[in-house]
Parts: sequence; C-alpha cells; structure tokens
Amino acid sequence: MASLNIQHLGWAVTSGKQSRWVLQDVGLSVGDGELVGLIGPNGSGKTSLLRCAYRYQRPSQGEVELDGEALWSRSPRWSAQRVAVVLQEFPLDFGLNVTEVAAMGRTPHKGLFDGDDQADARLIEASLARVGMAEARHQAFASLSGGEKQRVLLARALVQQPGLLILDEPTNHLDPRYQLELLRQIKALGLATLASFHDLNLAAAFCDRLYVLDQGRLVAAGTPAEVLTADLLQQVFGVQALVDTHPLAGHPRITWIV
Ligand SMILES: Nc1ncnc2c1ncn2[C@@H]1O[C@H](COP(=O)(O)OP(=O)(O)OP(=O)(O)O)[C@@H](O)[C@H]1O
Ligand SMILES: [Mg+2]
Repeated sequence: MASLNIQHLGWAVTSGKQSRWVLQDVGLSVGDGELVGLIGPNGSGKTSLLRCAYRYQRPSQGEVELDGEALWSRSPRWSAQRVAVVLQEFPLDFGLNVTEVAAMGRTPHKGLFDGDDQADARLIEASLARVGMAEARHQAFASLSGGEKQRVLLARALVQQPGLLILDEPTNHLDPRYQLELLRQIKALGLATLASFHDLNLAAAFCDRLYVLDQGRLVAAGTPAEVLTADLLQQVFGVQALVDTHPLAGHPRITWIV
C-alpha cells in the first residue's frame, strides 16, 4: 500500500555560472494500485523526475511525499524499504550471478550482520520464477541478454517488497512477447507504479493515467484516451499521427504517419 504525491517540483542544474531548469512546477500523483505512465520527448525530464521520486536526486523546489511523508526528510534506507527502482542500465554487476543480483533487493530490510535466511531464499526464488528467470538462477548476470537482465532487475525489485515501483523505460531491450509479459506482470503486482515510456501504444494499453512532459513542464495529464490525441502528439513530439481506438481492447491506438 503506497501513494506518491509530487507538488511544485523544480530541479535546476548549474554549470559554471549558468543555471538551467530541467524540471519546473511539476505536480503528479500515483495512487495505491495505480499504474501511471510518464511520456515525453528525449530530454524532456522523465528520468530526472523519476530520480527525484526515488530519492536519488534532491529537487531544488517542491515536495515529494510518499504515504504523506516527505521523502527527502527521511533516510535513504527508509526510502529503499518502500520504493524499488528498475532502470535502463545496471552498470555494475561485480561478477554476480542471477540469484545474487535478485538477493540485493533484501539489503534495505536487513541489519549489518544478517545473512540471507530461508524466508529470503524462498522470496528470491519466487520472484525469479515470477519473471521466468528461475532456471537461470546460477548464471552470471553479465552473460544475460538485455531483456533477461531487465527481468532479473524486476525480480530484484519484487524481492524488495516495495509499496511504490519506479521504472525508467522498463521495456527497453525486450522483444514484443517480453514487453507484454513484463508489463502484464507489473500490472498484476497491483503496486503503485510510476513508469516512463517511449512506446506510446504500450503506455496506452497498460497505464491507468498518463502525464506528458515537454521541456521540463507537464503539458497534459489524464487517461490515455484523454491525453493521446493527434494534436498533442503533433505539439509535443512534432510528429503526425492517426489516433483511433484499438478494435479489441478499446484503448487509443497510435499509427505514425511517415
Ligand atoms: N546531472 C545533470 N547535469 C546536467 N544536465 C542534466 C543532468 N541530468 C539531466 N540533465 C539534462 O536534463 C534534461 C532532461 O534529461 P532526462 O534524462 O531527464 O530526459 P529524459 O526525458 O529522460 O530523456 P530520454 O527520453 O532521452 O531518456 C536533458 O537536457 C539532460 O541533458
Ligand atoms: Mg530518460
């Protein structure tokens, strides 16, 4: 059970004497059990906003609240016990195998000298099974394909037993089958989830609500049907699109006009 509430968030970067606002006056909420998508062009601020929401990058202005508590006034450990993150990259794997990477999800819940007990081992096994990676449990993480890595990182997030899940382009690297499978799995978790997407048709299919960022500002918010209009896509992405309704699922369907 968790909810995220962001208000009037701003984040500025400084290089030399120059300051630049990367995010300005962003307000966003994710309710318990909601899957919320963040969309916008390259460089619009999606990753930066997610970083403020998982207590990695302190905003210059505004509030990030998790379950009504100011995230940035609590410790990193407090945050890590409640928020799990799956990022586009996992640069350091230290020669770990799949089980060891998944086991890292327990770290925020353990004392300094606690080992991995049997309950942890069962949770790790169940999480790997849930993403279809149990058979690779002894394989070196570095040897996995991009999509397999992504699934193990989702397992690590599940092992963390978070209230809030944050995902930065979770379907990057995945083939169509695993894109759908991963998003179905994420949706089935029923956690408060905030995820960035580049594939707008996937966002339309899976998200309860969407927020659109353009040059660091929110320019639209609402259900996929409310947000994903041809006008908005032209305005924000500068691309012409035909938007109709998916004949089977009923959500908006975008066909790019090339
Ligand atoms: N630490 C930083 N220092 C300086 N500029 C930064 C920093 N982090 C992000 N930026 C800039 O902020 C802007 C937003 O970047 P961000 O990574 O949040 O975009 P994004 O929407 O995630 O893009 P993409 O779709 O390409 O992943 C970019 O112009 C980027 O160069
Ligand atoms: Mg990004």
